[in-house]
Amino acid sequence: MAERTFSIIKPDAVAKHGIGAVLARIEAGGLKVVAGRVTQLSRAQAEAFYAVHKERPFYSDLCDFMTSGPVFVSVLEGENAIKRYREVLGATNPAEAAAGTVRADFGTDVEKNAAHGSDGPDTAREEISFFFPGADLT
Ligand code: CMP
Repeated sequence: MAERTFSIIKPDAVAKHGIGAVLARIEAGGLKVVAGRVTQLSRAQAEAFYAVHKERPFYSDLCDFMTSGPVFVSVLEGENAIKRYREVLGATNPAEAAAGTVRADFGTDVEKNAAHGSDGPDTAREEISFFFPGADLT
């Protein structure tokens, strides 16, 4: 069944002019980009988006990083899109990501890891509506 997931191409990958290259990996992975835009996260948006990590030691640094430059937010669609996109991305830590994945090729470290993908159906729905509220994506 076709499914949707949410993606952020993070400030590190955008700064490397990597939007096109990451979108090419997404499309080569069988996923369709059904909505997308460049945006600059406010501190409040970054803190709310990563609220689940509020108690983690890296939370404040992560919010600093995510607001350090423009990002590309998008909605992806395809068969098993959530799992498929996570395979395209590779492991959270680029040092552990398989060769040929986005994080292996564009990431620097566990914080500056090039891109984000939703980790499950509930978070995908929440994250899509966070950035594309009420969007008519059909
Ligand atoms: P992301 O997929 O955006 O989801 C949460 C983010 O927190 C993750 O990618 C990393 O950028 C960041 N993160 C996770 N673990 C750590 C860590 N141990 N140190 C710093 N940042 C982390």
